[in-house]
Order: sequence, then C-alpha cells, then structure tokens
Amino acid sequence: MASIPTSLTITRPDDWHLHLRDGAALAAVLPYSAAQFGRAIVMPNLKPPITTAAQALAYRDRILAGLPEAGPGSDFQPLMTLYLTDSTAPDEVSAARAAGVVALKLYPAGATTNSDAGVTDIRKTYRTLEAMQREGLLLLVHGEVTDPEVDLFDREAVFIERVMQPLRRDFPELKVVFEHITTLQAAQYVSACDAHTAATITAHHLLFNRNALFVGGLRPHYYCLPVLKREAHRLALVQAATSGSARFFLGSDSAPHAAALKEQSVCGAGCFTAPAALELYAEAFDAAGALDKLEAFASFNGPDFYSLPRNHGQVRLHREPWTLPETLPFGDATIKPLCAGETLNWRLQAA
Ligand code: NCD
Ligand code: ZN
Repeated sequence: MASIPTSLTITRPDDWHLHLRDGAALAAVLPYSAAQFGRAIVMPNLKPPITTAAQALAYRDRILAGLPEAGPGSDFQPLMTLYLTDSTAPDEVSAARAAGVVALKLYPAGATTNSDAGVTDIRKTYRTLEAMQREGLLLLVHGEVTDPEVDLFDREAVFIERVMQPLRRDFPELKVVFEHITTLQAAQYVSACDAHTAATITAHHLLFNRNALFVGGLRPHYYCLPVLKREAHRLALVQAATSGSARFFLGSDSAPHAAALKEQSVCGAGCFTAPAALELYAEAFDAAGALDKLEAFASFNGPDFYSLPRNHGQVRLHREPWTLPETLPFGDATIKPLCAGETLNWRLQAA
C-alpha cells in the first residue's frame, strides 16, 4: 500500500486572481494572502474601478502600506491590473505598462460584482486590445455573457462562442487568461488553444458542485460568479488542473463580502477563501490523488505564462486537521470564510 504523505514542500506559490478591496476591508484581508503567496494579480473592480495607470499606482501604494514592515508577508508583491472600459484609450496602455501594470481585466458590463462600468461590446475596445497586443500586456477575461435570454448556468459556454473565438481570431498574439473557469466547455476550449491562452481555476470550483448552494437550505457563502456548476463540470476542472498542462494555474478569486451583506435577501457574489486558499487547493489535489501536480499549478505555470520569474523560497503544508474559524474581523463588520467551522486536512506551516 502506498504511504500517505504527511507533508508537502513546494516553491512559494502566487495567486493569479485576487480581490483585495480597499480601506478597512483591504487591511483586514491582505495579511491572509501575503502570508501564503509571493505575488497576486489584484483585481481592479473597486468602487469606482481602477481604470488608469495613476489609479493603479496609488492603489498599489495603499496595498504596500498595509503589509508588515518585516517578517512573513512583508515581501508580498501586488501585481496591478486596469479595469477595461468601452472608453479605455490606447495611450493608457503605454502608461500602464510604464507603471508596471501587467494586465487589463475585461468585465462584460453587469456580469458580476462591481462590473457596471464594464465593456458593453468588445468591438469597442479593439484599438486598445491592439495596443495591449503590441505592448505585451495580458487580457484577463470574466468569461460570461450577460444576455438575459441565456440561462445563467450556460453563460460561460455561450461566451466561448460569442466572444472568445472571435477574440482569439482577431488578436492571435494577445495573451489571454480565461479567469475562474467553471465548465467542461471552458476546460476543453483552453486545452485546445495555443500557448497564448490560459485559465485560472479556483479552489472552490475544484471542491464543490452546485449542490453546495442548496444543502439543507440556501447557502449564500457558496454563491459566486461564475456560479458553481454540476458535477461533470467540477470533474473536468479537476482533470484540467491536475493534467500537467502548463496553461492552467491557481487563481483563488477570493472575493470578500461582509457576512451581513452575504446573509440578506439579495446576496452579493463572491467566496472568501484567502484565509485557507492554499490549504483548500491541497484538499482538492489530494482528493484527486494528484498532490504531486500542485506545485506546477500553484507556483510554476502562472509566472511562466506571465513571463515573470518563478518565486524563490518554499512553503510547507502539513497533513494536520484544523478547523476554520466561524467568523473573522472585517473592519467594523465580520466576514465568514468559505468552509467556516469546517475541518481541513492540510495546514500551511507558519513561516
Ligand atoms: C467577485 C467580487 O466580489 O468582486 N465576485 C465573484 O463572485 N467572483 C467578482 C468576480 O470575480 O466575478
Ligand atoms: Zn474575481
């Protein structure tokens, strides 16, 4: 019988899709990600959104100011993104590049939390996409159509036909990340693409199917966008993440919302996974018998796709059951991490 591994040491990972918010919320959630990851791609969907290089630089400074001065997490590096709008000027792309911004995020208008200022028709952004392709900035895509005629569970699959395929045809050299994919169709699509297309996958989409939203009653903390799908899709995502393909990598999409806002008649979309992000991935890879594939997914494939160096240093996970807290402080409010009060088998060793 194969022995059960009791610890796992991997190169320090990065989070290629993270919501850090701002102000008191930023101060509350930043330490969790800084403790686990070397870098993170910081999503720009603040209110108002980060649409200019100058705003990205100022936001970056606020994030850096929230890091500890020394010790664990002090060297965490936020990688900044701009929020693409119908009117983002091509010149802003050069300014963004000069400011160290690495990517622009495409939110179809109305697709998710704080996406009202998003793109109404991708053709309106073509001159800006040309500039990005030329300057080497990545396009990060929230891949769901917003057409009310399309069933909410089908919006990602329809997005592939209506937006991804024309986009790939018209900008073959643009590096595109299909963010937080949730379907068999997206996993197959990305697998079949060339080296310019990759995808992030969240831990919660690897661990749960849509039943999790309804077990014993409506469960708002499992509600995110794109919404959890049926089991066949979860299995396809696990297969993609553990396949060894270099074009799938870790993006937690940790998206904090105060508990009081999640637990009301209209609940915002987003799962807060940052306090146990890497542990949740370890859980998913362990369940698939693929712990040996976690390091490439978490620590190699992302920087390789972004043409950034891999991190130095390592982190160690132990097989050690522990229980996630029920609630955590969130400025003047509280927040519930995904799997609050539940026991995980893997724990990150404090640095
Ligand atoms: C994100 C948020 O809360 O900002 N929510 C979510 O459900 N994932 C936005 C997003 O990434 O779609
Ligand atoms: Zn997100």
